[in-house]
This record gives sequence, structure tokens and C-alpha cells, in this order.
Amino acid sequence: MDYKSQINLDKLPEHIAIIMDGNGRWAKKQSLMRVKGHEKGTKTVREIVEASADLGIKNLTLYAFSTENWNRPKLEVQMLMRLLVSSLKKEIETFQENEIKLSTIGCIENLPKNAQKELKEVMRKTENNKRMTLTLALSYGSREEITQAVKNISKKVKNDLIDSDDIDESTINNHLYTQDLPDVDLMIRTSGEQRISNFLLWQIAYAELYFTEVLWPDFSKNDLFEAIYKYQKRERRFGKTSEQL
Ligand code: IPE
Ligand code: IPE
Ligand code: MG
Repeated sequence: MDYKSQINLDKLPEHIAIIMDGNGRWAKKQSLMRVKGHEKGTKTVREIVEASADLGIKNLTLYAFSTENWNRPKLEVQMLMRLLVSSLKKEIETFQENEIKLSTIGCIENLPKNAQKELKEVMRKTENNKRMTLTLALSYGSREEITQAVKNISKKVKNDLIDSDDIDESTINNHLYTQDLPDVDLMIRTSGEQRISNFLLWQIAYAELYFTEVLWPDFSKNDLFEAIYKYQKRERRFGKTSEQL
């Protein structure tokens, strides 16, 4: 089925977050090295980024590397960082053509210097693009993010910049990496795993979760459109009853 034509463009999710999983298993299935799966995965990234911008999605956040992924074999981590740098160099054109603004969340200081430099440059070049914000989660962990927020708020309380009685949900929101992004409406995870793996725990409070068996390197535009179509078929009640909506 061609899902694109079935999508209601007036009811698009404002923010889609994707846990891009299954590169390793994709490679293993065809007796390739894991890195080949990651390479193929970057091609999927381009396709999905373009398709999202083209459809009119305003915010797309991709989980590219978690705080836990630092525990992978050194060589794989090195390869992933190299792929990040080479992809950024290649994709700057895609970003400009599609008016995509690049942004990041996570402990960017932990990335290799050349990756930090490349990211900064691409972010600077794309900062005025208005069609879609693409946020890459790099060295990202939601618990780490929340811990940092608590630390920063505590400092402000200590320095009398915030009254502890005034702390509310928006205070927390404003101290997360995602302060400029709306809440996630749709979270997709590929590869059949049904877990969140420390991704955007606060921000998915009311997101619709969508799990698919498709491995990330095989995830197509039509798979994305299917997820959006199915999201639109769901009833988001936000605590209310069906009748109240
Ligand atoms: C996702 O694919 C990419 C990253 C986490 C960087 P994986 O590398 O986790 O692939 P599987 O889960 O081993 O198949
Ligand atoms: C989550 O995938 C992180 C990214 C997609 C970057 P993992 O493959 O690392 O997750 P777990 O460890 O299997 O939960
Ligand atoms: Mg995985």
C-alpha cells in the first residue's frame, strides 16, 4: 500500500523521534561487518530526513549515539564517529536544498574534536533554515540530561535566581537539551526491540509509540509514511474520555 497519499497533511505529528536500531543485525544477516550496517544506515538517514522535510514534518529527532553506546568495542565507536563526520560533510547540501536546520542534543563535548568542529560548522551554516529542524542525539542519555537539569536548577535556586516554590514543569522543560522543541508526538523504533533505551524519557510523556520489525537499513520512506498514517488513526485522549474529544 502507498501510505503517502493516505496521510492527512493537516494532522501531521509536530515532532517525530526515531530510535534507529538494527544496523548490526542487518549486516550480520548478510555476513557483513557491523560497520557495513552503519554505512547503509546513513543512507536511510538521508532518505528519511528528506521524506520528512518533504512531507512537512517540522521536527525530526534521531537517536544516533547513546551515552551507553560508548561501551561498545573501541573500533566500532571509532567507525561510528568517522561515519558521523563523513556524513555531515556529505549531507550539508541535502540540508541546504531542503532548508533543514541541524541541531544536536547530548554531551557533545564527549565527541572527538573533529566531529564537534564539523557539527558546529554545519549548525552555523544551516541556522537560518526554516522548513524542518533535524536534531541529532549524540552521546545522548535521558537520565544524564535530567540530572544536568536538576543540577542547573539547584544552582539557580542557590544563587536566588529561582525560587524553589516557582519550579514547575516548564522550569524542567527549559533546562533540558530539548528546550526549543515541542514534546514528541510520535516515537518510532525499528528492529523489533520494544524499549526506549534512555531516549527522551521526559519528552515522550504522551507520545504515541510505534514499533516495527524492519531493521533501520531497510526502513523506507513508505515505512515512515505507514507509521505516520497509523499514528493518525489513533485516538490521543490525554487523560480525557473519548466523548470529550
Ligand atoms: C543502531 O544499530 C545504531 C547504533 C546504536 C549506533 P545497532 O548497532 O544497535 O544494531 P543492532 O541492534 O546491533 O542490530
Ligand atoms: C539505542 O540503540 C541507541 C541508538 C539507536 C543510538 P541500542 O542498540 O544501543 O539499544 P539497546 O542497548 O539494544 O537497548
Ligand atoms: Mg541495537
